[in-house]
Amino acid sequence: MGKEVVLTGLRSNAEFHLGNYLGAILPMVELQKKHAGQYQLNMFIPDLHSFTMPIDHGKLYEQTHQNLKVFVAAGLDIDQPDTFIYRQSYIPAHSELTWILSCFSNIGELSRMTQFKEKAQTFTEFIGTEEFNPTKGKDMTGIRRQPISSGLFIYPVLMAADILLYGAKWVPVGEDQRQHVEFTRDLAIRMNNKFGDLFIPPEDNAKQMEFAGRSEPVRIRSLRNPEKKMSKSIEDPAGTIVLSDRPEEATQKVLSATTDSAGVINYNWEKQPGIANLLQILALLSEKSQDEVNAQWVGKSSYNELKSSVAEIVNNFLADLQEKVANVNDEVMMKKLRDDEVAMSKIADGTLQRVQIAVGLRPKAPQASQ
Ligand code: ADP
Ligand code: TRP
Repeated sequence: MGKEVVLTGLRSNAEFHLGNYLGAILPMVELQKKHAGQYQLNMFIPDLHSFTMPIDHGKLYEQTHQNLKVFVAAGLDIDQPDTFIYRQSYIPAHSELTWILSCFSNIGELSRMTQFKEKAQTFTEFIGTEEFNPTKGKDMTGIRRQPISSGLFIYPVLMAADILLYGAKWVPVGEDQRQHVEFTRDLAIRMNNKFGDLFIPPEDNAKQMEFAGRSEPVRIRSLRNPEKKMSKSIEDPAGTIVLSDRPEEATQKVLSATTDSAGVINYNWEKQPGIANLLQILALLSEKSQDEVNAQWVGKSSYNELKSSVAEIVNNFLADLQEKVANVNDEVMMKKLRDDEVAMSKIADGTLQRVQIAVGLRPKAPQASQ
């Protein structure tokens, strides 16, 4: 028996921001450290998932590699023999299995997916701005409607293929993706009932949470609108610290962060989310406990002093990370990527072949399969 597989992917449709770093990248690096040698760790870039909504396609290829470098800079050890990094689109079995799975997924369950519902709505609201508009100010400017891609709709099916191809039991994801993992589990069980033991279904939500070892995931809020999470989406550049921000940009964003008029620092997400967000960033970046940071700040009245401290720590963090990213050895990383893509293609093709046989696309006797 091989090792159990832990699998997770981080999209590269835009540059990573501080929220991605603290909420997804660091936990992955910690996971690798914690479970070194115990599990097989598949950490991949779901590049095919990157344009279910409009993006700048001219940047996608480079962005993928830049984002991978961030993983390495954050401490992901790519020399570990049990860790595999790969790009989804380089392993065609992902796309092929998606088609087959889509024929066993129901429109009803897919239309209930929260991400689909939410993103479809955002898309409708924000399309038509100059940034998304390919015709730049011509006939489409100002139009606030746009067709929703069917890719956005079948997004979870591709995600199911990502997981089932490698028999991953453990899929650590953020809150917003849990429903997709549950969908994958349901689909795998449905297929197993129909075709025999085809897939290893991922564990259920409760077990996944236990595995991730955290009841409440880190959620960094937008600096501009602390009711919402910090996000890659284009509507909130001033509220989002991207990892390539220059010091003056980051300083500006932190200093103009939205706070409140209470005049006293409290760690209260309900009443003072802007301040709580700053205190949270301070704790995570200084690697101190939240209690320790709160003990230092709660009760003080100078928001500016707090903002200056946050700006300083954010800038130190960015400078350090940017230097590490610049020092990642491109050749070594690309070689690892290509080697892992070959290794993972073999596994993925093996699963795909079993499915093709099960659904009748290939003959049952392996020697006759051609
Ligand atoms: P975005 O919303 O910026 O497009 P994604 O949805 O691509 O980000 O999320 C990628 C990963 O980063 C997910 O695992 C998600 O949980 C994590 N993440 C995204 N935004 C934040 C945030 N503001 N705070 C903490 N984690 C976040
Ligand atoms: N959908 C995930 C996200 O937006 C990324 C992803 C794609 C993924 N395929 C996956 C995560 C498979 C875990 C497993 O964050």
